[in-house]
Amino acid sequence: MRDVAVVGIGMNDFGELWKKSLRTIWAESAFAALADAGVDSVDLITIGCMSPGLFVGQEHLASVLADELGMAGVPASRVESACASGGLALRTGFAEVASGLSDTVLVTGVEKMTDVDGADATYALGTAADQEWEGFHGITFPGLYAMLALAHMERYGTTSEQLAAVAVKNHANGLLNPHAQYHLKVSVEDVLESTMVADPLHLFDCSPVTDGAAAVVLTTVETGQGACRRPAGGPDHRLGPRHRHHHPRQPVRISPSSPRSDWLPNAPTRWPTKSPEDLHVVEVHDCFTIAEVMATEAIGLFDPGYGATAVEDGLTSLQGKIPVNPSGGLKSKGHPVGATGVAQAAEIVTQLRGEAGQRQVEGATVGLAQNMGGSGGSSTVHIMEVVS
Ligand code: COA
Repeated sequence: MRDVAVVGIGMNDFGELWKKSLRTIWAESAFAALADAGVDSVDLITIGCMSPGLFVGQEHLASVLADELGMAGVPASRVESACASGGLALRTGFAEVASGLSDTVLVTGVEKMTDVDGADATYALGTAADQEWEGFHGITFPGLYAMLALAHMERYGTTSEQLAAVAVKNHANGLLNPHAQYHLKVSVEDVLESTMVADPLHLFDCSPVTDGAAAVVLTTVETGQGACRRPAGGPDHRLGPRHRHHHPRQPVRISPSSPRSDWLPNAPTRWPTKSPEDLHVVEVHDCFTIAEVMATEAIGLFDPGYGATAVEDGLTSLQGKIPVNPSGGLKSKGHPVGATGVAQAAEIVTQLRGEAGQRQVEGATVGLAQNMGGSGGSSTVHIMEVVS
């Protein structure tokens, strides 16, 4: 197995992008990642996308998108794991490079959700639930997460005010992210007074419906380091892709891992294990405020039942002990479901490069991205660190 590096990232503005098609936003982010990596060819393209058939009526996505990029001959495939489709695309690309099947992979995620109305979007998202046991009863995702919130409140005494604090923090972070869908400051009162969607979750407890795409380029750490040392100049095919780095930048090593050893009992032991204390910055799947609380507990940042208190106490704010969702998270940045996992990785890489501007977590060299499908049916965790 080989060590894997992220050497390029690309992301466009998230939002209601009615003037652009799925293929356009996907290609924009893909070209941005390729340019960032200084690469003009890849061995494989992987695409995380949850439901292009229901959202834009397009299946067989990979061949359409590879063609759009001018890479029709390059092997390409779409992977799906509901809202964790982007995380799964990342894991697929990682496995390709780590195993030696591919040297350079373009990992992408995309979803175009606003071309349908709210009812159709809710239906499309709802197909990620268990149709026999959940969908049959008419449950929606706000409804499923509302039940999780009620259970958390019942067991641990978590309050609506504490959940609102997640939205307040993530909207404050999103104000500092030019790519975020929403640039607005909200207070606890704003959240609690916003429309009730599924008791106890209000409008501002929910992530929105979003159009967006993100991409990263993976290669081996060895190749990435070579690329970074290479001076600016013309084509060089000795390393496969062409590298045109104009300034030295250390690649970011990525591994599918978790600070919780029981999450990956069969994971290869060659990748360095990290404990929660090793992490400097974290992006988790806050599709609803309760989801961020439960995710931070599940990955071991806080003991069960303390995730909400931690937010209220400011431990997860930008200046806190362990900043969570500096990008604004799904809540403020937006949640184009298939793109989210890749966008999270792009944010962690931005942070580890020290290029996050006003939302920069000072001195961050190790970060984690957690992406979740459905109401926890699937989850991916990737830890990234600056290669020393
Ligand atoms: N956060 C903040 N503002 C939001 C928002 C959100 N999640 N969703 C919508 N808005 C805003 C809109 O911008 C709009 O503002 P405007 O009137 O100033 O233009 C207003 O609220 C109404 O927007 P609309 O699109 O009509 O909302 P809606 O009632 O159709 O949808 C939700 C609101 C919460 C139901 C929808 O965003 C939703 O389903 N979210 C969850 C998505 C989901 O389940 N994802 C998968 C998770 S696993």
